[in-house]
Amino acid sequence: MKKKKGFIFDLDGVIVDTAKYHYLAWKKIADSLHIEFTHDHNELLKGVSRVRSLDIILDLGKIEASQEQKDQWLIQKNEDYLSYLVDMDETEILPGVMTVLNFLKAKGQGIALGSASKNARPILEKTGILSYFDVIVDGNDVSNAKPDPEVFLIAAQKLAVANSDSFVFEDSVAGVQAANIGTMTSIGIGDATVLYEAHHNFKDFTCISEAFLSELINK
Ligand code: BG6
Ligand code: MG
Repeated sequence: MKKKKGFIFDLDGVIVDTAKYHYLAWKKIADSLHIEFTHDHNELLKGVSRVRSLDIILDLGKIEASQEQKDQWLIQKNEDYLSYLVDMDETEILPGVMTVLNFLKAKGQGIALGSASKNARPILEKTGILSYFDVIVDGNDVSNAKPDPEVFLIAAQKLAVANSDSFVFEDSVAGVQAANIGTMTSIGIGDATVLYEAHHNFKDFTCISEAFLSELINK
């Protein structure tokens, strides 16, 4: 019998389409500060912690601010972001995700969440998929943000699988780099021209076949 493998899922933009809500909430702050903040700029924020995201936006506008002011913006951003999640349910799970989760579960594989978000657990609860995850590592558990591999290394360790037996699903450049630095296999979900550093690329989970997953399991 083959060794169990570890499948580590990012959350925002991989399992649920919350990347758009993060963008809207940051855009409100940026607009209020007259900072131009486009979808291209937003790519820089994907997978990046809340605190670091604010710094990136302030850098774009060449704005310096006190810690007190920054803390206010961070609270404002999160409150606004959470307001988009109030009615969240399983319909927000991205296409194909459940098929992949069910397949991996049926095959007895290790399933982990590896997210920078501090809002990960409530999102998994609201969408009804918390019980699929053997391990959850989120923004509350790490001190180093992606592209540091910490979040994925902890996930693999908790799953009791080797880094080389771990497969990471990611929609962000920082996340793909984190998986690569952690000597794991990175699977980019989204635009392959943006996520060109990933070992494998898929537009979304509907493009991932059972044959591909079986190949990873039997590696
Ligand atoms: C990541 C998102 O998953 O989590 C980032 O891609 C976000 O955009 C980060 O900033 C932190 O999320 P939260 O929910 O703790 O603000
Ligand atoms: Mg993401």
